[in-house]
Amino acid sequence: MESKSTVSHKPVLLQESLKALAVEPGGRYVDCTLGGGGHAAAILEKSSPGGQLLGIDADPTALEAARERLQVYKEYTLLVNENFVNLQAICLKLKFFPVNGILIDLGLSSLQLSGDRGFSFQHDAPLDMRFNPDQKMTAADIVNNSSEAKLAQIIRAYGEESQSYRIARAIIKERPVTTTLQLAKLIEQTIGRKGKIHPATKTFQALRIAVNHELEYLESTLKQSIDLLGHGGRLVVISYHSLEDRIVKQFMHQEARECICPPHTPVCICGHTPRLKLLNRKVIIATETEIKNNPRSRSAKLRAVECIVSHSDNYAITSGHHFVTIAKSTAWLRPVILQKSKIILLAA
Ligand SMILES: C[S@@+](CC[C@H](N)C(=O)[O-])C[C@H]1O[C@@H](n2cnc3c(N)ncnc32)[C@H](O)[C@@H]1O
Repeated sequence: MESKSTVSHKPVLLQESLKALAVEPGGRYVDCTLGGGGHAAAILEKSSPGGQLLGIDADPTALEAARERLQVYKEYTLLVNENFVNLQAICLKLKFFPVNGILIDLGLSSLQLSGDRGFSFQHDAPLDMRFNPDQKMTAADIVNNSSEAKLAQIIRAYGEESQSYRIARAIIKERPVTTTLQLAKLIEQTIGRKGKIHPATKTFQALRIAVNHELEYLESTLKQSIDLLGHGGRLVVISYHSLEDRIVKQFMHQEARECICPPHTPVCICGHTPRLKLLNRKVIIATETEIKNNPRSRSAKLRAVECIVSHSDNYAITSGHHFVTIAKSTAWLRPVILQKSKIILLAA
């Protein structure tokens, strides 16, 4: 296993992200997935002088790594160890809105993949897979406590694995399954190996998504992001598998449409107003050169939108930990209380 100090995360689609975010001096940006701080450093550099960045990551180790990397920009940076599903509450608490751009670079950083967090079957580690070690449920809990039907459903839905029932049955027979290699070997013995891709890949993806509620949180965060963007502000999302990309695409297309009536409705009755403009009809993917230098970029898909509404009067903030959000355009906004978030001021 590579030691942590030798692992560094190369930001994916970096120039494409900066261009899509339209980073400009003095702008205010949120990086919802700070990771090693690669994108964040480039945003801070390009938004200088005067740019500000709020960086969020659920993983305290990632946040620490980013803190070191971003030291030089400490006066312009706020780092928060939180889940991005609380995006709106975090921004309201820090009075960090409206913003010029929001970046979500999904998935795992190289540091997480190479460490002993149970994300990878390249080396043996406890079956953990939590982004945030304070969270209770681990991958081992799901694997060892779920019914066969539930396990199969998770592997099918989140891994798009056609052999989900065979894998679930084999796991139930073998339980307890506690380490990455034990699980990877069991899957290989059960469904065999075809081609280059390891047969455990889809099951590992499924467990990671389930442990971290990745798809639900992504959907919620996308919705929250619109109300934080100023007019002309950009939302940029990089996804790494089809389940994520489908959610991002559907959300962006829906919010950019004039009408969301069911097809064949003779007259529009939805009253829908587009709030976003698509910046790229086709997804942006990595060049051959980037893929050669950074294989992680192979599956990356970037989508970007621009906010075309103003909603500066959407928020009313009360003091302390309590925020009251007055949503004129959205029903999903709710008063939020953020009590446990750890906010690190880089300058402190
Ligand atoms: C692909 S890495 C980001 C890499 C970063 N863009 C860079 O250039 O170094 C994704 C990061 O997002 C974090 N993450 C994933 N889901 C999250 C969530 N729901 N809330 C907060 N952080 C999350 C992971 O912990 C990981 O550090």
